Amino acid sequence: MSADQNKKSRLFLTAMGHYLPENVLDNNFFDSLNIGSDAQWIVDRVGVQERRSILRPEEIRALRFGDTTRDDLVQAGRIMTFGQMGAKAWGLAMERSGLHTADLHAGAVIGGTSVPDSDIPSHACYAARDSKLKTGFAFDTNSACSTFAVQLQTMRGAFAIGSATTGAIFGAERYTSRVDYSDRKGCILFGDSAYAAYVESAPRGKCLEVIDTMVESSPEGADTIRMLDGKSFEQDGKAVQKFAILKTVSAAQAIMERNNLRVADVNWFIGHQANLRMLASAAQRLGFDSEKHLYNVDFFGNQGGAGAPVTLSQNWDKFRHGDTIVISVVGSGLTWGSVLFRVHDKVS
Ligand SMILES: CC(C)(COP(=O)(O)OP(=O)(O)OC[C@H]1O[C@@H](n2cnc3c(N)ncnc32)[C@H](O)[C@@H]1OP(=O)(O)O)[C@@H](O)C(=O)NCCC(=O)NCCS
Repeated sequence: MSADQNKKSRLFLTAMGHYLPENVLDNNFFDSLNIGSDAQWIVDRVGVQERRSILRPEEIRALRFGDTTRDDLVQAGRIMTFGQMGAKAWGLAMERSGLHTADLHAGAVIGGTSVPDSDIPSHACYAARDSKLKTGFAFDTNSACSTFAVQLQTMRGAFAIGSATTGAIFGAERYTSRVDYSDRKGCILFGDSAYAAYVESAPRGKCLEVIDTMVESSPEGADTIRMLDGKSFEQDGKAVQKFAILKTVSAAQAIMERNNLRVADVNWFIGHQANLRMLASAAQRLGFDSEKHLYNVDFFGNQGGAGAPVTLSQNWDKFRHGDTIVISVVGSGLTWGSVLFRVHDKVS
């Protein structure tokens, strides 16, 4: 690779934002659904106190008691779209970075969701349109909860072959519209959120350099976490929990090892936001002190592929020049991956 190409293949998140819907669902809300849910059980076993939803509590109650269906809500325009959520996250990214959408061109736009609005067109096209972003090529990747790692790895590839030198990444998850509200095991887990980032091949202002990415899959586990066409989310929670802890740990260790980093060299750790007890166990096994462990599952639930990137975005102001951040994510597929970032910020 020539020096020029090498320079092109560096990848920086020069703007990042997130969006969390206003509707708050606390644990007591699920008691009112008459499904035998226990608020204390949720805190003890999952560590979630609240989650956000694109749906109003009364719409969820109507779903639970059969007074409406998801299709009815879609028809009534009550399911906020990927494009709408992505544009809100994009708005925060622009506001924080001081960039202006009208001045930008995203050579590659990569969307990602496990709760699609449509089979075609791609959600990347919807998000770019709704954000009024000029684009080169736009397409989606979906590997469920590991989507952010896959998006970044794919973007690195596009930069490395020179097919793009700028880009945008969008993700939005709306699991609260795809769970069975008569199932106390599944419906209490999830929250909705979205993220967006602008990426460039050179640093600008405060930004995160993507130093390395790693993604892997184990398709023998394809049936353990599923959302079949038109059906609700289902998983073998116990089996997945063990696997998720092991892979969260091994994916973080692998990316640190191949970049010659020890735990002491890493400033921040973010895992897949499935369960706070699980995350605490993974962080402890890795040797990260609790102050290095960033999470949002306690107040936003499991946001699928959006949980880790939204946590990253929510903590943007904490990051200082030279900090290293490790993200480790696990999801349906089964898939897992990790990302290593370094913070650039000339002013801090
Ligand atoms: C889903 C998860 C929280 C369930 O926790 P768990 O400790 O495995 O609990 P179980 O599902 O075995 O349920 C234990 C009992 O609690 C009950 N329970 C479940 N939800 C409850 C609730 N909201 N309130 C009260 N009791 C509840 C179950 O019905 C079960 O009761 P039973 O023994 O009478 O049938 C946990 O397995 C998990 O987080 N797994 C990992 C998920 C993951 O990482 N997914 C990755 C991709 S999204």
